[in-house]
Amino acid sequence: MEEKTYIFTKKQLNIEKNKVLSKFASVASHDLKNVVGGISNISYYLSKTVKPESETQKKMLDLLSKEVITLNNRITEVLDMTRVKQLTKSVCDLQNLIIKAIEENKIDGITFEQNLVPVKVYVDPERMKQVFSNIIKNAEDAMKNNGTITIATTIEGQNVVTTISDCGQGMNAETLENCFDPMFSTKLAKAIGMGLTVAQQITEMHNGKIDISSEEQKGTLVKITLPTYKED
Ligand SMILES: Nc1ncnc2c1ncn2[C@@H]1O[C@H](COP(=O)(O)OP(=O)(O)OP(=O)(O)O)[C@@H](O)[C@H]1O
Ligand SMILES: [Mg+2]
Repeated sequence: MEEKTYIFTKKQLNIEKNKVLSKFASVASHDLKNVVGGISNISYYLSKTVKPESETQKKMLDLLSKEVITLNNRITEVLDMTRVKQLTKSVCDLQNLIIKAIEENKIDGITFEQNLVPVKVYVDPERMKQVFSNIIKNAEDAMKNNGTITIATTIEGQNVVTTISDCGQGMNAETLENCFDPMFSTKLAKAIGMGLTVAQQITEMHNGKIDISSEEQKGTLVKITLPTYKED
């Protein structure tokens, strides 16, 4: 039998890739969560009943409890990242939302320069905060946790444009072309490459868009365009 050939655009291919990934992640994470739940119970039982005979044994038991919690959090993160849930929209002040995202991602070595205007948007605040967080985290990674991230908002007609710029390592042409692809990452084992995929998905669900310009060794500028909220 002759095999059929399908022609997909990059965008269509990414949508299909995402569907498979989300399905896989939700099934795998669900099973993994059960297993981790079991390990967590055992680790709790051991920590309460075993009397460590040495300092090393005590350290190992403590480490076991901590690592189980980390593992559980990582699985939840993967699940959250691959699955964009239904939006729960409300009228919010974009400025506050961005400030919250900055607060949650503050780390030593990174300074934030802000030039934000108060502006109302009709969005899911948790999801949009996730968009800004994902982009801020990338900027921090690109600057190796050392430098200034500049965030500004401007009103452009019916839209509000947020720019997030860093002076980090920037992207080469290939990375720039593929950075929104599901599971595309240049960070090897340290990341899963879903941050921008999810950020783009969420932004588009709000009738917005994300544009990125970047230059190697110079830095990256991410532009998030969202419609402003209009009162009738
Ligand atoms: N500000 C930036 N500066 C330089 N490169 C960037 C920047 N933002 C994204 N990239 C590039 O785009 C790739 C994809 O980004 P994305 O956020 O989707 O995944 P990730 O950061 O690698 O992993 P994850 O976000 O899932 O932890 C990154 O691996 C990196 O190569
Ligand atoms: Mg990322």
